[in-house]
Amino acid sequence: MYNETMNPYIVAISGASGSVYGLRLVEELLRTPEDVHLCVSETAFSIIEHETGLVLRGASDAETEQRIRGHFSSGKIWYFSEDNLAAPMSSGSFVTGAMFVVPCSMKTLSGIACGYANNLIERAADVALKEGRKLILSPREMPFSAIHLENMLRLARMGVTIAPPIPAFYQNPKDIRDMVSFVVGKILDSAGISHSLFPRWK
Ligand SMILES: Cc1cc2nc3c(=O)[nH]c(=O)nc-3n(C[C@H](O)[C@H](O)[C@H](O)COP(=O)(O)O)c2cc1C
Repeated sequence: MYNETMNPYIVAISGASGSVYGLRLVEELLRTPEDVHLCVSETAFSIIEHETGLVLRGASDAETEQRIRGHFSSGKIWYFSEDNLAAPMSSGSFVTGAMFVVPCSMKTLSGIACGYANNLIERAADVALKEGRKLILSPREMPFSAIHLENMLRLARMGVTIAPPIPAFYQNPKDIRDMVSFVVGKILDSAGISHSLFPRWK
C-alpha cells in the first residue's frame, strides 16, 4: 500500500522515439527522497525494447512493476498501466510533486491539449492542469506540423513547460550519454530539481 504522506513525481513514457530520456529521468528522480509513479504506454514498451533492448513489459502489471524495480534497483518506483484509470495519479486528491511526459508523442500531446483523458497518461496530465500543478512535456517529432505547434502553444499558455529533447553542444558532449544527460538535466531544471548532469555555463 502506498504511503500517502509522500509527494511523488509522476513520469509518463509515451510512444515517441527517445525512450532513453524517460528512463534516465526516472533514474535521476529516484535519487531524490520522493517516490516515482510511472506509467508507460503500450507503444512505449515496444519502443523501449526496440531502442534500448530492455524488456520491461511482463505478463501482468505486478510482473511489469517487478521488472521495472529490478531495472532501477529501487523499491521507490510504482508502475501503473495506461488503462488503469483507478491509479492514484488519476485523482486530484492524490497530491504529487510534478508530472513529466518524457518523451511525449504527438498523439499524447494532442490528447492532453484537448483534455481527452482517454488513458492514464492523459488523465493524470488533465488532473495536473486542473489542479494547477507542474506539468512538463518533452514532445518529440521532426518536423513539427502546425497542429503539433498549436497544441504546444495552447499548453504553454496554460503554464505547461514544453521542453523538447533538443541537445546542445556548448558543453562539448563526448557521447550519447552526455547528450541525454543534458536534455534530462534541462528537464529537471524546469521542475527546480537539483542535479549535476552537466557542467553549468560560467
Ligand atoms: C518505433 C516508433 C517510433 C515512433 N516515434 C514517434 C515519435 O518520435 N513521435 C511521435 O509523435 N510518434 C511516434 N511514433 C508513433 C506513436 O507511437 C503513435 O502515434 C502512438 O499511437 C502513440 O501512442 P501513445 O502516445 O499513447 O504512446 C512512433 C512509433 C513507433 C512504433
